[in-house]
Amino acid sequence: MIRVEVAGDASAAAAAAADHLAEVVNGAVTTRGTCALAVSGGTTPVRLFEELAKLDVPWSAVHVFQVDERLAPDGHPDRNVTVLRDHLLSHVALPATNLHPMPVGMPSLDAAAARYQRVLEEVCGSPAGLDAVHLGLGRDGHTASLFPGDPATDVTDADVAPTGEHEGRQRLTLTVPALQRARARVWLVTGDDKAPALEALVRGDGGPVARLGGEGAVAFVDSAAASGLDR
Ligand code: 6PG
Repeated sequence: MIRVEVAGDASAAAAAAADHLAEVVNGAVTTRGTCALAVSGGTTPVRLFEELAKLDVPWSAVHVFQVDERLAPDGHPDRNVTVLRDHLLSHVALPATNLHPMPVGMPSLDAAAARYQRVLEEVCGSPAGLDAVHLGLGRDGHTASLFPGDPATDVTDADVAPTGEHEGRQRLTLTVPALQRARARVWLVTGDDKAPALEALVRGDGGPVARLGGEGAVAFVDSAAASGLDR
């Protein structure tokens, strides 16, 4: 069952999620000497990244991966790595070699998916065990780029998969097995438009994505997104 922490507003939820992520990262570095963190894109993480950049995190021991990435030119504002660079990485001392962007510029998305799985396994072992993943939630209940009805959402034999076109872009995404294997799953969900999807996630229904809301998962939400939850 996913643990839900409700904050008064989106800023407070982002700050609470950043504090928790920093705690998880520090714990991993203390225990294992390193931390493999994968982060999502979209708009909600902007505040999270800005809060995380203020906290005491041993970035030299952290490897940053992407949960998903849209097919768009380098530097395009639609690229999740652009948001990540602008709001977090340009403010912290992460070694350049510790950032692992999804290779969406490759001619074949299938080859790009295979390449990224290899990178994950080089850093996190095989099968790849991320220490922490940050997840958002779409109004339609998707997370990462695992959209309802997209074949990538049902992939069980790979950690990375290409998707169809969603919200105007094809994407590359970590799959349910890869996300489920992570030691910690930290959701940040804000806004009343996300209330129905959050309710379904907490209830544990909503297809394969719901499997990501189980043990080891915590959701930092604002009161607007939590409006449908029994509290
Ligand atoms: C993406 C994200 C995606 C995001 C949700 C919510 O690339 O779009 O990884 O999974 O978390 O779509 O997006 P917002 O935070 O913008 O509402």
